[in-house]
Amino acid sequence: MPVSPDKNPATDPARAPAADNDVGAQATTHFGFKTVDEAEKAGLVKGVFNSVADQYDIMNDVMSAGVHRIWKNSLIDSINPRPGMHLLDVAGGTGDIAFRFMAAAPGSTVTVCDINAEMLRVGAERAAKKGYADRSEFVCGDAMKLPFGDRSMDAYTIAFGIRNVTRIEEALAEAYRVLKPGGRFHCLEFSPAVVSVLQGAYDAYSFKFIPAMGQMVAQDRDSYQYLVESIRRFPTPEKFDQMISSVGFSRTNWRSMSAGVVAIHSGTKV
Ligand SMILES: C[S@@+](CC[C@H](N)C(=O)[O-])C[C@H]1O[C@@H](n2cnc3c(N)ncnc32)[C@H](O)[C@@H]1O
Repeated sequence: MPVSPDKNPATDPARAPAADNDVGAQATTHFGFKTVDEAEKAGLVKGVFNSVADQYDIMNDVMSAGVHRIWKNSLIDSINPRPGMHLLDVAGGTGDIAFRFMAAAPGSTVTVCDINAEMLRVGAERAAKKGYADRSEFVCGDAMKLPFGDRSMDAYTIAFGIRNVTRIEEALAEAYRVLKPGGRFHCLEFSPAVVSVLQGAYDAYSFKFIPAMGQMVAQDRDSYQYLVESIRRFPTPEKFDQMISSVGFSRTNWRSMSAGVVAIHSGTKV
């Protein structure tokens, strides 16, 4: 792995490097707390999700004690699902957002796009089991270069995906491009910090409990170490809101949930 000799701050979250504010301008980027060549990051992220694909859904329940379901339902509410709507769910992985959306909007359809074929394979199998195969398609593609036409989507979602993208601004610009005028962008993502009174407990939970559970349940400590480190590198909600505005979205807003653990961001293409 082409990593810099950064000291490893994983055991001391207070030493985590600051979140990148200018990811697109650099030839290097972060992979968790490591610095890597920008060209290498997508492959490293792919390796993480190849490794966890089959255990991904059970690990979500283990890591969040099921609370990710509440967060995802809140994301769906923010879309205001309507019958017949077509949703693009980017970094859609194993289909959790897609299935919730289709359940909420009769006659709706979803394109799930993800860079990882293994995650999509699990998602397509789940769609078949749940009776959603006719209303969903699973497409391999990069959030930074979406294989869809301009102004083709009613709504765009990305849940726990954008922090893995090498150049976040490019993914946001692509979201803007593929949305129809009036279409809305919705993002559910972890925030780098929680309310200060809980920060110590949250750090222990993130850096001790999660990697240990990753090892126990998915036999993969490193991937879950990356996942918690990547959260600390993601911009604050205030900064991310500015990034969404800066690619052209209007009426941007965000709200934090669970004491700041996650935030839901939205913006409209006018
Ligand atoms: C933590 S999972 C989230 C999956 C799903 N959205 C959910 O909430 O359960 C992150 C997903 O982002 C995908 N991903 C990472 N980088 C991506 C990129 N550049 N373009 C598209 N998908 C990407 C990964 O393959 C993985 O499936």
